[in-house]
Amino acid sequence: MKKILFFGILSTITLTSCGKKEEKKEALYPESVAETLSPEEQLIAEGKQLFESNKAACFSCHQMDKKVIGPSVKEIAKVYKEQNGDMFNFLRKKAEPIVDPSQYNVMETNFAILKTMSDEEIKSLEAYMMSTIK
Ligand code: HEC
Repeated sequence: MKKILFFGILSTITLTSCGKKEEKKEALYPESVAETLSPEEQLIAEGKQLFESNKAACFSCHQMDKKVIGPSVKEIAKVYKEQNGDMFNFLRKKAEPIVDPSQYNVMETNFAILKTMSDEEIKSLEAYMMSTIK
């Protein structure tokens, strides 16, 4: 019983002193990192996660800097920026390919999975890809 009381007091002291440290930290970092992201940054983060997920598997054909099966993410973003392309509509199969039309049939296999995605998910993929050249 005495031991329990003793540890009780000890942990109260420790908790109190930790609590103070915690307070200082909180003053420096008022919110968690996720909460400090702007809506745009959150969308980009979602898009990156989706792009690299097994569900979308975009990454298996699109590497960041070099062409593998498909053009690199940066190359695609560059062409879309230069030509003011509408990537959202492309990913919805409502716009023609502008990066490498000769290989379009390879990209076309992805519309089955893209069709199952919400507008928000498609927007996040676009936001992520475009963010790589900012
Ligand atoms: C099987 C390989 C493969 C996968 C997986 C793949 N792509 Fe592609 N993608 C390609 C190829 C090849 C091209 C070049 C043909 C073209 O430009 O349409 C391309 C082109 C593109 C383009 C440029 C289209 C244009 O205007 O020419 C975008 C944007 C794109 N892919 C996004 C994605 C996204 C997002 C995913 C994941 C959902 C994905 N790709 C998955 C092979 C792939």
